[in-house]
Amino acid sequence: MKEILQELADRRAEAWLGGGQRRIEAQHAKGKLTARERIELLLDEGSFEEFDMYVTHRCTDFGMDKTHIPGDGVVTGWGTVNGRLVYVFSQDFTVFGGSLSETHAEKICKIMDMAVKNGAPVIGLNDSGGARIQEGVASLAGYADVFQRNIMASGVVPQISVIMGPCAGGAVYSPAMTDFIFMVRDSSYMFVTGPDVVKTVTNEVVTAEELGGAKTHTTKSSVADGAFENDVEALAEIRRLIDFLPLSNREKPPLRPYFDDPGRVEPSLDTLVPDNAHQPYDMHELILKTADEGDFYEIQRDFARNIVTGFIRLEGTTVGVVANQPMVLAGCLDIDSSRKAARFVRFCDAFSIPILTFVDVPGFLPGTAQEYGGIIKQGAKLLFAYGEATVPKVTVITRKAYGGAYDVMASKHLRGDINYAWPTAEIAVMGAKGAVEILYRSELGDAEKIAARQKEYEDRFANPFVAAEKGFIDDVIMPHSTRRRVCRAFAALRHKQLENPWKKHDNIPL
Ligand code: HXC
Repeated sequence: MKEILQELADRRAEAWLGGGQRRIEAQHAKGKLTARERIELLLDEGSFEEFDMYVTHRCTDFGMDKTHIPGDGVVTGWGTVNGRLVYVFSQDFTVFGGSLSETHAEKICKIMDMAVKNGAPVIGLNDSGGARIQEGVASLAGYADVFQRNIMASGVVPQISVIMGPCAGGAVYSPAMTDFIFMVRDSSYMFVTGPDVVKTVTNEVVTAEELGGAKTHTTKSSVADGAFENDVEALAEIRRLIDFLPLSNREKPPLRPYFDDPGRVEPSLDTLVPDNAHQPYDMHELILKTADEGDFYEIQRDFARNIVTGFIRLEGTTVGVVANQPMVLAGCLDIDSSRKAARFVRFCDAFSIPILTFVDVPGFLPGTAQEYGGIIKQGAKLLFAYGEATVPKVTVITRKAYGGAYDVMASKHLRGDINYAWPTAEIAVMGAKGAVEILYRSELGDAEKIAARQKEYEDRFANPFVAAEKGFIDDVIMPHSTRRRVCRAFAALRHKQLENPWKKHDNIPL
């Protein structure tokens, strides 16, 4: 008996070593943790239950029959994050560069199937050289099996990808189909083809960092939703994110203890909007002052900064926030901000997370770059996303709500449930200057007349009351009472029921 126990201990010890001490040291030398160390940090202490530790690959080509490493380059299983169930896979770069073999894929598929069946998120810690080259089409098939599961799990359980090393080829397409992608600065890369292939095909000379580093993907491509300094920070932040999310689409968002008065009054908000309508202010201030304990988990902070997206809690439950940001491009909607916010709104709706929208938007960004880039269809994504969403929607217009952008930003007409405006709100087809230039073209030479026309237009439209008279705004609220009013609004919507007509699926303008 003792010998049998010893054999198990030996087998475990061998598996825990992955690709061996030398490769573990190489991993550490790059500032990276090993697959198992990452899981330790991600999950509650002692909660990890590992599957398939003894699985090895089946390949016999290219001398592979001589090297079998237990686990085959990926550590899989389940555990808890602050007591809540999650499934996890963590690729082990010390084993064949974390490359994906047939059996490696089977291990990932197994935990994905269990996650969907049991209703819990899947967290993938990616550190992989892509398809295992020695296995050829078997590894491509393995990738496709994972992709298919990503697609089926989409909208059923949250899927989160953390990119923690070089990820190439197939290793980027699975994350691309998950809900959120986070990267680690200076040690993680994502590209379909690496710098060498790029040089051969297009003659471009580019470093791995420029081509697919965290900065590129969080500021330029928007492939990644956030970047962290190192493995430890990344894993701690994923734990924080998990705390905001429901475990599946069958559940409501978690209710956590809160220590902030829902009736808290914020007198400073009464002066947040400057007297001069052209002067910006930071919309983050309103978000932080509305949230429980000022806690805001921002998504895509560094991309399309003219719109802000992320999670807060109100009375302990998660709420998704979408807010125009007057500090950047005057808060206008453009291609990037529409896409960013649309994806966020759809995530919230898929997982029953109510949406709070703060509006200060002068309209859509004009110009050839926008038109050629398809702003018509890109902007329609956000319109579509808001219009199809059935979760509780509360909207507060702080200042401008001009033109089509007024309609788009969770207006009453797109089934906004409770729509408030601050007294500083201006709800109109466009700003006074533009309107007067169109309506009174013949008077443009007469500055005095034009000024009078502008004043007349502002008096009529630069306020929330025309919309309020029509019932498009439910109430004009004091800025200092915003937290109290939106907390009460969401509380009143807790049992909202609304269903869209049956369809196979919609056809959102992609
Ligand atoms: C098998 C691989 C591998 C792979 C790396 N290794 N990638 N083994 N298949 N895809 C092995 C290396 O041979 C090496 O083994 C060990 O992992 C570490 O790799 P290094 O190159 O020494 O590490 P590093 O210098 O850090 O470079 C990492 C890397 C590079 C950038 C990931 O290895 C690389 O470019 N790999 C190939 C990437 C790629 O083109 N993959 C195929 C993509 S096509 P030893 O024994 O020496 O330690 C694809 C198709 C799917 O994925 C498409 C679906 C849509």
